[in-house]
Amino acid sequence: MLNVNQITKLQEIRTPFYLYDMELLGRTVAEVARLSAEYGIEVHYAVKANAQPRILEYIASQGLGADCVSGNEVLKALESGFPAGKIAFAGVGKTDLEIETAVRNGIFSINCESLPEIEAVDAIASRLGLRARVSARINPDIDAHTHKYITTGLEENKFGISEYDFDALISLIKKSKSLDFNGLHFHIGSQITDVEEVFSLECRRAAEIVSYFEDRGLAIENIDLGGGLGIDYENPDGHPVPDFERWFGTIAAGFPERNGRKLHIEPGRSLVAQCGTLCTRVLFVKKGKSKTFLITDAGMNDLIRPALYGAYHKVENLSAVSRGESVNAVYDVVGPVCESSDVWGEGRELPESFRGDLLAIRSAGAYGQVMASRYNLRDLAGAYYLDTL
Ligand code: LLP
Repeated sequence: MLNVNQITKLQEIRTPFYLYDMELLGRTVAEVARLSAEYGIEVHYAVKANAQPRILEYIASQGLGADCVSGNEVLKALESGFPAGKIAFAGVGKTDLEIETAVRNGIFSINCESLPEIEAVDAIASRLGLRARVSARINPDIDAHTHKYITTGLEENKFGISEYDFDALISLIKKSKSLDFNGLHFHIGSQITDVEEVFSLECRRAAEIVSYFEDRGLAIENIDLGGGLGIDYENPDGHPVPDFERWFGTIAAGFPERNGRKLHIEPGRSLVAQCGTLCTRVLFVKKGKSKTFLITDAGMNDLIRPALYGAYHKVENLSAVSRGESVNAVYDVVGPVCESSDVWGEGRELPESFRGDLLAIRSAGAYGQVMASRYNLRDLAGAYYLDTL
């Protein structure tokens, strides 16, 4: 929650812009670091959620690892201070150059998503005269009970290696020349709110698959269960730090016997979403026949989640907070982009709002700024930090 002083400072900044709360990020990361030590589960931050340099450097400085999905993310993670030995690299379509970058830097794990990829990594490492640490990303065929665009562990998804390929995978790894086998990687989806149900199912399935591989002579040193913990988009101030205890606890309970194997997770959204807000100004209040529109200067190019997934983000009128007004009107809040899906929310209850008012689009720290585009040749929104306003 911002105070009137902070809101006054924000009013002076050119909109739209992203605002990050590093104090909240600090509390969130501290909680994760505490649970990581308590449960012995290693954490790799999913860089794709937010790659702002200050955020990456802070997370690296607190001892977490990184989960990357492109060669550029690997390089950015290294540049931000994540040690190579804590960087995992997944993705269904790695180019030769990206694989080479990962191999040359000796990262913790290249998470291979298909048999041809394993062959390519082996060939590239052999050509370079280096060894590559690889894990197999497995498609466990589990429904994460989330939006179909962000569920990744079902059989028809493009992600991971499916059961019918396990035997071929095992023999490929055994006969490889330059690969060190690291373990198994899973990731079943994002914004998962049925935490116990979905993650305990993932653990059960992962344990079965681990046994299958070990019974066939392939030792599994590392089990990476991916990311996916959901956050509270409806009430960000009610749950600024997500319930990590439940997630860590469910995963630890899923592996009562570890037999020397290490567990890993890859949170993205849950670490950074609540720390970010998209700030935008009301350009016009437009009265329709039955609706009143608030037209903002931020659009789907700044934050695509509502347009792409129909995602809910809470909208607040910060100027009305500083005027001391409470909710007494209903608006459709919409962006300026020439697409009908450029809508922040329909029928939103807000205080009476005026041209020039500053609005906050909440929980925008994950998959916000990183997914921005210059559609309509609009400028990219910059980043500001609450502690250095
Ligand atoms: N690990 C892997 C291999 C992933 O693919 C992802 C996210 C994560 C970890 C982190 O998941 P998280 O903890 O953030 O749920 N743009 C979408 C989300 C896409 C997630 C892609 N993969 C959104 O805005 O909801």
